[in-house]
Amino acid sequence: MIRQLADEAATISLAQAVYGALPPDYSGWTILLSGELGAGKSTFARAFIRAAGHGGSVPSPTYTLVEPYDLPGGPIYHVDLYRISTEDELRYLGWSELDGGLRMVEWPQRAPGLTDEADLTIKLSYAGEARSAEILGLSKRGSGLIQKIN
Ligand SMILES: Nc1ncnc2c1ncn2[C@@H]1O[C@H](COP(=O)(O)OP(=O)(O)OP(=O)(O)O)[C@@H](O)[C@H]1O
Ligand SMILES: [Mg+2]
Repeated sequence: MIRQLADEAATISLAQAVYGALPPDYSGWTILLSGELGAGKSTFARAFIRAAGHGGSVPSPTYTLVEPYDLPGGPIYHVDLYRISTEDELRYLGWSELDGGLRMVEWPQRAPGLTDEADLTIKLSYAGEARSAEILGLSKRGSGLIQKIN
C-alpha cells in the first residue's frame, strides 16, 4: 500500500491511523521505519508514541539506541539502529528483552535479519517537497493491519 503524504500533518495522521489499527495489546509487535535523512521517520515515531498516550517529548534514540515509554497499552521501545554496524550488536542492546513491548525501529537496514521477525515496514521517501509512504505487511497480522487502514 502506498500513501501520498502532502505535508507533515499527513505523516502524523498516518502514524495515528497505524496506531489505531493495532490491537489493544500490542506487545510483541515490531514496526520498521525506514527512509533517508529527513524523510519523516522521527515525525512518524513521535506521532505514533503520542497517539499511544505519551504526553511529553520524544527524544531521538540515536545515541541511547533505545528510548522506552511506559504506556497504557504496554511498553513501546523506540529504537534507532543508525549507529550499529553489525547485527551482533543487537544482542548488546538487549533486543530480545524488548519483546514484552512494541518495537518501533528506525534504520532497520542496519540489521537485515529483522525483517524475519517484524510485522510491518513503513518506507518513507521524498516526493518533491512532500513525502510518500509504502507500507508492507511482513507477518500475517501485519498484513491484516494494512487492510484496516485502507
Ligand atoms: N509528509 C511530509 N511532507 C513534507 N515534510 C514533511 C512530511 N513529513 C515530515 N516532514 C518534515 O520533514 C522534516 C524531517 O522530518 P524528520 O525529522 O521526521 O525526518 P527523519 O527521517 O527522522 O530524519 P533524520 O534521519 O535526519 O533523523 C521535518 O521538518 C518534518 O516536518
Ligand atoms: Mg530522525
